[in-house]
Amino acid sequence: MKRVFFTVFIAAFITAVTVHAQQTKDPKMDSFIANLMSKMTLEEKIGQMNLPSEGDIITGLGANNNIAAKIKKGQVGGMFNIKGVDKIKDIQRIAVEESRMKIPMLFGMDVIHGYETVFPIPLGIASTWDMAAIEQSAHIAATEASADGINWTFSPMVDIARDPRWGRVSEGSGEDPFLGGEIAKAMVRGYQGKDNSFSSNTNILACVKHFALYGAVEAGRDYNTVDMSHLRMYNEYLYPYKAAVEAGVGSVMASFNLVDGIPAHGNQWLLTEVLRNQWKFDGFTVADYGGIGEIVSHGLGNLKAASEMALKAGLDMDMVSEGFLHSLTKSVQEGKVTQQQIDAACRRVLEAKYKLGLFANPYKYCDPLRAKKDIYNKENRAIARKTASESFVLLKNEGNVLPLSKNKKQTIAVIGPLADTRSNMVGTWSVAAKLDRPATVVEGLKEVAGKNTKILYAKGANLTADATLEKNSTMFGRELNRDDRSEEELKAEALQIAAQADVIIAAMGESSEMSGESSSRTDIGIPDVQKRLLAELLKTGKPVVLVLFAGRPMTLVWEQANVPAILNVWFGGSEAATAIADVVFGDVNPSGKLSSTFPRSVAQIPVYYNHLNTGRPASDNGFQKFRSNYLDEKNAPLYPFGFGLSYTQFSYSDIKLSSAMMTSNTEITASVTVTNTGKTDGAEVVQLYIRDLVGSVSRPVKELKGFQKIKLKAGESKAVTFKITTELLKFYNSMLEHVAEPGDFELMIGSSSNDVKTVKFTLN
Ligand code: BGC
Repeated sequence: MKRVFFTVFIAAFITAVTVHAQQTKDPKMDSFIANLMSKMTLEEKIGQMNLPSEGDIITGLGANNNIAAKIKKGQVGGMFNIKGVDKIKDIQRIAVEESRMKIPMLFGMDVIHGYETVFPIPLGIASTWDMAAIEQSAHIAATEASADGINWTFSPMVDIARDPRWGRVSEGSGEDPFLGGEIAKAMVRGYQGKDNSFSSNTNILACVKHFALYGAVEAGRDYNTVDMSHLRMYNEYLYPYKAAVEAGVGSVMASFNLVDGIPAHGNQWLLTEVLRNQWKFDGFTVADYGGIGEIVSHGLGNLKAASEMALKAGLDMDMVSEGFLHSLTKSVQEGKVTQQQIDAACRRVLEAKYKLGLFANPYKYCDPLRAKKDIYNKENRAIARKTASESFVLLKNEGNVLPLSKNKKQTIAVIGPLADTRSNMVGTWSVAAKLDRPATVVEGLKEVAGKNTKILYAKGANLTADATLEKNSTMFGRELNRDDRSEEELKAEALQIAAQADVIIAAMGESSEMSGESSSRTDIGIPDVQKRLLAELLKTGKPVVLVLFAGRPMTLVWEQANVPAILNVWFGGSEAATAIADVVFGDVNPSGKLSSTFPRSVAQIPVYYNHLNTGRPASDNGFQKFRSNYLDEKNAPLYPFGFGLSYTQFSYSDIKLSSAMMTSNTEITASVTVTNTGKTDGAEVVQLYIRDLVGSVSRPVKELKGFQKIKLKAGESKAVTFKITTELLKFYNSMLEHVAEPGDFELMIGSSSNDVKTVKFTLN
């Protein structure tokens, strides 16, 4: 028997309490805005709902020439991707001095993984599993951005992604809802401040995106169709957005895709029923770049109809399309939309400005003295370097090739198209980064290596054999200075350099713009021309370390079989080079764990750890007829979720439960003792997974439900305890009720999703 009704009751009670907390508004704000809006014309209200970009900074699609005139007329609520206090102050001045209503503007930017001090790409920083470090990175990003006039960031991006062909996997936290949710909360806290009061001018408004399900585009092709069951939405994909809402995120950006056949931008069920009615979100919603206009291409009417649809669905601010600006007045006159709908949207935008403190001081974020001391300073860079070194994932280290010693006389040959680039170090979506600043891998190694080590360099190969592919993969100033020599000539030079070395470091993989927006790939391996070079380097018989640059999970079966050491460094940000050297020379012991499964081949995709069992699960022992498997490939991925090696080893004791029985109002604990059995101090991410063995709907084979990152000195042991509450056991059933169903569960603790100890317990 399932005691569903009891848990539903508890859930309803908890929801009622949270709803109450979220609905308590500031009466002073209410009357201020009511008074302001009573003086605004319809056009001025619609103006607040308009978000043009400065121009062509990002995609070249914006055509907003006469922007100052528009601001004076009250036709602009905010702008984005402009930096610099002087510039922003100037624009703000037009709004608050030259427009009739004197309403200050929002200044947004894609501050995605740092500002001028750049942190690892989100997929990389997720691999730290260190929520304090992630929160701190967002706080530093907010501090730097706000010192440059910015008061709103289009981050965090929390789209769950299980298809590494999709370039935007680099921008999110990977495949797992729970980990993604924890990261979403940490980032919102980092940007907005712990109490969401915006009491300091270092706190800026966050924007969770892309709502919703953008990570599930078919075939991993950007902007493609999404179609998904509600069960999967509620249990998996919606979870991190909801976590951000619960953390108090101030704004939500709609996604480019369809949800149940209706574009997210015009989807009332999504933007109003789920977001506001079910989750009690009380901030404002914003379109993605041109997203309202794209409703037209999705085939749901012209721009005027699309704008009406978006407004009625609950979208408050139009990014770039200017559909609201040019058609909503007419739509009101025709009775297609109501004044009240416009009032509601305008009010939410004004509330955000009020909460930020812009009415009290429109120049709150325009302190001319801050930029110099707050941006890209020594302290921020030191933290970015440490965080980057903790995001790297050691995938293989046969014969302990790594770390290299600093003490012995040695020559290192650094080879590969990514060894001598600055602009590719920071990674995709780093709008504020100065691309000529980061050290190259060669420079980073030289800085850290000390006087015993000689470092030589050769490019060895271009990024790709195909010049057009390289051009398309190195846009926005990330050129890799393509070498005109033939593949053979480049290889010969590299081999001649390698011949003089004791160790070879191959800096290879993807360029930074091979992932990110509109950068989907069908081949997610290291480009062939680089692989051919790597094979030649291996033939020298010298130890080879592959320092892998990756914006996505890549296919590395051949590399795993042939290269002795593989260190995945993602794109580590402005301090990546020294961080790489810190790990290569053992000043930092790697502790990153994958937040996304690495498939063996593209044909396995989607392959993720928290899958369902199917009616015919396969065993790991090769092909079995009439089981769910492949004739020619394993089901298992190459590197599972949660995997990552260290320079030391950790052992896990068996799991101790405080009781093997719990009820819906009691909790139990599960403990293990983890021991560092090696000779090096290190950090380990201890992971808790749970499987609901019998459910009213089919439940995943395991789901991450907790994790703790602990530091252990060589030889040290620590007990790690997890609390198991009914809340942890809940899921959405076929009625979309959030329930914990009594029955048997498996509880697993271990060092990755496929390396766990297991016990059972029962919920009565
Ligand atoms: C992206 C968003 C981004 C926006 C503004 C869009 O193309 O999808 O993630 O925030 O541009 O730059």
